[in-house]
Amino acid sequence: GPEVVPQGPEDVMFGLIAAYRRDQDPNKVDLGIGAYRDNNAKPWVLPVVKQADELLRKDPNLNHEYLPIAGLPEFTSASQQLICGANSPAIKDKRVLSVQTISGTGAVHLGALFLSKFYSPANKEAKVVYASAPTWANHNQIFTNVGLEMKSYPYFNKKTCALDLDAMLASLNSAPSGSIILLHACAHNPTGVDPTQEQWKKIAQVIKDKQHFPFFDCAYQGFASGSLAKDGWAINYFIEQGFELLIAQSFAKNFGLYGERAGCFHFVTGPASSAQDTIARVGSQLAILQRSEISNPPAYGARIASLVLNDKALFAQWEEDLRTMSGRIIEMRKALRGKLEQLGTPGEWNHITEQIGMFSFTGLSEEQVGKLRDQWHVYMTKNGRISMAGLNTKNVEYFAKAVDSVVRE
Ligand code: LMR
Repeated sequence: GPEVVPQGPEDVMFGLIAAYRRDQDPNKVDLGIGAYRDNNAKPWVLPVVKQADELLRKDPNLNHEYLPIAGLPEFTSASQQLICGANSPAIKDKRVLSVQTISGTGAVHLGALFLSKFYSPANKEAKVVYASAPTWANHNQIFTNVGLEMKSYPYFNKKTCALDLDAMLASLNSAPSGSIILLHACAHNPTGVDPTQEQWKKIAQVIKDKQHFPFFDCAYQGFASGSLAKDGWAINYFIEQGFELLIAQSFAKNFGLYGERAGCFHFVTGPASSAQDTIARVGSQLAILQRSEISNPPAYGARIASLVLNDKALFAQWEEDLRTMSGRIIEMRKALRGKLEQLGTPGEWNHITEQIGMFSFTGLSEEQVGKLRDQWHVYMTKNGRISMAGLNTKNVEYFAKAVDSVVRE
């Protein structure tokens, strides 16, 4: 009977949004989910998305037919170029296979499902996914839901609030050869701490030496360095090194297309003579998985993104919109750090401006986060992460005072 189904816990992120919405306090602050807000704490439709939307609506040939199983071809090919680099040797050699997905989550899932069915390392113990500690909470259940085991490698050093490279390399080095290594391409979620290019080279070397299998999750391209191309650097470097790898690409944040679920999954194979054969076989299996899971992907978000990605003027407007978002986030980092330092809040706050992307990993404890919520109506994840985009010129002082108060308690 139905009693065999146990009660599951509420999703942490969406539970947080619901609690925030229920809260009637006029000073409430939402620093939970990673979704951009303008200076009035309101969702922001990118001007370029409005333009593309108008163009789309004017198109007399627009209909609601199914997309192909692998998605809108002009969308997937432009997505490849964005993430692999326009001059990527892998694209030139047709070594990239792309499938449009239900945003980044769908891409991670498709990759996970593919690995669960077809990944067979010589050492069976290597069929394990290693993710950074910490990582995006959803990673864990996406991989375990398809039966893959998850382990973690050290990443964030709580003392320095920076990358613990030595521990990370040692852990990757001691993982069984052929393990799956999940990497955040840029703007690491939740810590806001990315490896430098020199550090990426060392990471790539260990992964190569150990014949591990890299899987990049890229949900924040355009939010880390301020340049779309630079934010793809790590992936471009790994491709240049000849790796076979997977990429999950989301357009939720950088296009503000959250609810439209626009994303892409890419399989890149190395420059072997059998590359074309590999691409054909992998493509045939991905098509079967996609068909049985979602039949074919949703059209609207992909059409919007495709118009922008394939048009020079719209692309330039998009880059400007990205600078508007990342610029406001950087201003808020400065403002928050400034206010905390002004208040003399105990602790060091330099990491707030040193971290990048949409999040700041504040170092606040779970207990302090609880107090912020109960006493100050501030909503953030228990791990101390704040979505910087939830701060604005009107609430940053209130938040700084709230932090000051709970830190001193
Ligand atoms: C986040 O980490 O806040 C975002 O990726 C949204 C989500 O789905 O959790």
